Amino acid sequence: SGREALADILAGMRAGVAFTGAGISTECGIPDFRSPGGLWTRNRPIDFETFLSSQPMRDEAWRRRFAMEEAFGGARPGRGHRSLARMVGDGRLAAVVTQNIDGLHQASGVPEERLVELHGNSTYATCLACGLRHELSWVRTRFDALGGRAPDCPACDGPVKTATISFGQAMPAEAMLRARQFTQGCDVFLAIGSSLVVYPAAGFPLEAKRNGATLVIINREPTKFDTLADLAIHADIGDILDEIQ
Ligand code: OAD
Ligand code: ZN
Repeated sequence: SGREALADILAGMRAGVAFTGAGISTECGIPDFRSPGGLWTRNRPIDFETFLSSQPMRDEAWRRRFAMEEAFGGARPGRGHRSLARMVGDGRLAAVVTQNIDGLHQASGVPEERLVELHGNSTYATCLACGLRHELSWVRTRFDALGGRAPDCPACDGPVKTATISFGQAMPAEAMLRARQFTQGCDVFLAIGSSLVVYPAAGFPLEAKRNGATLVIINREPTKFDTLADLAIHADIGDILDEIQ
């Protein structure tokens, strides 16, 4: 069965890469983007150009960020995160590359040098003009004081945004480079809980396969890379990873 094949692959893995998407965090109570009830089925994403060009959209983006904090701020790592952290700990996984901004891989104990956050991190903000870092608590205080208006940078009046990547915004160069290096050097590439529809991130399974890695996909729904994969398992991530150790 698929589970036995996966157990075999993971037993022989020496320098794997786990590439994760929102599906690994749904059991922690955080909705994904594209499933029924997912975030993009409720709100259209605010792209980078819109964020830059419109004060009301910046206000809306920060309203959403604070609503997320209230709803999911207490989320803890799930079975999938914990299982991957163990595989990093025992040396089988060289890295976890994630599209998620929820910080749960870090919370599960994956060290910084083994973690690549491709879409950034929502735990702090930066000024898009001068690069100054701003803590979320500062943004929240200013936002409330201004009656629900997104604050500008006190140093240069530039727009302040969470340190996450929006549609239309350049990918962080260093994270992309590290993700490529890990991907090109891995023996097993595990794509876990991602619809694999967003580029450039969706190029990684292909790149791993091209470099000779064994490609495994674990996702509730089929993806367009399933036929390319050596193994595709359509099941719940927590169930699958928890029972395999
Ligand atoms: P998606 O919402 O596109 O895909 C999540 C996948 O996980 C879906 O195919 C679900 O079927 C699957 N899934 C959900 N819960 C699962 C579970 N418990 N077990 C197994 N499978 C499960 O999320 P991503 O692929 O992460 O980017 O989305 C990629 C990027 O698009 C995000 O990082 C975000 C989004 O727009 C930006 O915001 C730039
Ligand atoms: Zn600034």
